[in-house]
Amino acid sequence: MTKLTVSFFILFLFMLATISFSNMNQDKSNIDERESIIRFSHVVKRVTPKGIGAQMFKRLANGDESLSKEFREKFKRVEVYPESALYADEQVIDALLANKVQFAAPSLSVLCKKQDKFCEFDKFYRFKDITEVNDYQESEEGQKLKKVTTTICNDEKTNCLVGLFYWHNGMKQLSTKQECSEDQCFFMKENWTFRVQDSKTIRDDFERTFGKVIAKHIPFNKASKALEKGSVDGQENTWSNTVAEKYNKYQHCFIETNHGYLGYIVLTNTKFWNNLTESDKEVLKKHLDTATKKVNSIAKKYNKASRQLIEESNKIIQLTEKEIGSCKERAIGEISKPTTMM
Ligand code: SIN
Repeated sequence: MTKLTVSFFILFLFMLATISFSNMNQDKSNIDERESIIRFSHVVKRVTPKGIGAQMFKRLANGDESLSKEFREKFKRVEVYPESALYADEQVIDALLANKVQFAAPSLSVLCKKQDKFCEFDKFYRFKDITEVNDYQESEEGQKLKKVTTTICNDEKTNCLVGLFYWHNGMKQLSTKQECSEDQCFFMKENWTFRVQDSKTIRDDFERTFGKVIAKHIPFNKASKALEKGSVDGQENTWSNTVAEKYNKYQHCFIETNHGYLGYIVLTNTKFWNNLTESDKEVLKKHLDTATKKVNSIAKKYNKASRQLIEESNKIIQLTEKEIGSCKERAIGEISKPTTMM
């Protein structure tokens, strides 16, 4: 080897070492940055009840000087990641259990897959309205159910969920891309396909209640595109999600069924939560409580305003008492008697 070749070789090794060292540093600083952010993941837009609640929690927590010095040293701030920017509902439980996110507020349907007791929230005509849901959630039984989240753990059982607060959205309605009249819409057309969340209870109840239709799971972040392309005929959701996601641009017929409930549970994980001091937990819970009140009060307003907006451009079909009775009968076999959930 000539002197020149040796020099090049040494230079090359030096460059390689420098690059690896700087990459190592970069990776480390990314990890440090990542670990010092408390991440709150959700799937809806910022200007929705849940989006506003998450932002409110972030603002209150980030501005609170009563959080301990250790907390402040460990965590720079709370950040909110809306619109499935980090995780879709289908992935967020695993992300929480891997402590990749510290807070999330998925739909209660997401928990139905993990623990049967939560499927009760997905049952059609289980609750007449939000007041009934609220009474249940605030009851001893509803509070006990929230604690069942701690039985949902990772495979090694080293990290489990912690259910903190229930958040409302509202009652779900139906829509289709086809124009339809009163008599046509009540029993849906054979083989019409509807986008639903990933819940067997919803899929089964949907197909039992609304005739020979197909209930198809599509993740929330792909639902709007599917409706725009017309690859599904319809969907079920609250008035507020329908407007926020612009489903009403692609759907023509709206039917006020109030057949199911859409609500959320604010979750954290034991690895993050149990390492906080009792006093820091209390501070965060206080801010989540304030955000909960806000979410629940604006959810009502958003649903009302969104319904009005839809009504201005579309016909909303209301079911007769007889039709509602018939839907309930198909869904639950007989007119709703509250069942014991726990
Ligand atoms: C949500 O409101 O968080 C999403 C509900 C859905 O997937 O329809």
